[in-house]
Amino acid sequence: MHIRVIIGSQSICFLPAIKTKYRRVRMVSKDIREFTTNQSIVVLATVSTEGAPNVAPMAWKVWYDDTTLLILDNYMNATRANVQNTGKASVSAWNAESDTAYQLKGTAEYANRGPYMEKGIDHMSSKKPGASPRGVVVLHVQAVYSQKPGDQAGELITATRST
Ligand SMILES: Cc1cc2nc3c(=O)[nH]c(=O)nc-3n(C[C@H](O)[C@H](O)[C@H](O)COP(=O)(O)O)c2cc1C
Repeated sequence: MHIRVIIGSQSICFLPAIKTKYRRVRMVSKDIREFTTNQSIVVLATVSTEGAPNVAPMAWKVWYDDTTLLILDNYMNATRANVQNTGKASVSAWNAESDTAYQLKGTAEYANRGPYMEKGIDHMSSKKPGASPRGVVVLHVQAVYSQKPGDQAGELITATRST
C-alpha cells in the first residue's frame, strides 16, 4: 500500500506507513483453508532450539477445524524434532498460475495418538486404504499473511488471536 501526499507541486510517496487492516477473527476463512489443501505441495518451516531453520515439502495435509491444520508425518526427521522441541511452525502454500500465496503461522505440536492422529489416519486411509501416518504435526494457526507478489506482499490478513 502506498500513501501519496501532494503538497503544492511536490508529490511524496510514503511506503507502507500503515502496515495493514487485518481481520482479527476466530477462524481461517474457508477460501484460505480450501486454497491450502488444494495445492498439491506446501512447504512446512520449523526451527530448532538453536534457531536453525528447516523447511520441507509436504503433500499430506488436512484441516482438523477452522484454525487447525494437520500435516501428516510419513518421513519427518528434523521437522518432527523441531516441532517437539520448539512448538513453532509455519506453512507456505502457493499457486503459481494465479500468483496467489499464503503463509500460515502459529504454534505447533506433534501427536501420534488422540483425535488429531485419528483425523490424520482417517484422511490418509481415505486416499490410500490401509495406510497410516507415523504421527501428525498439528499447526494451530494464529496468523495468515498474504504472499502474493505486489503491494500486499507480507500483509497480515487474518489474526486468529493475539500475535
Ligand atoms: C513432493 C513431496 C511431498 C512430500 N510430502 C510429505 C508428507 O506429506 N509427509 C512427510 O512426512 N514427508 C513428505 N515428504 C518428504 C519430506 O519432505 C522429507 O522426508 C524431508 O526430508 C522432511 O524434512 P526433515 O528431514 O527436515 O524433517 C515429501 C517430499 C516431497 C518431495
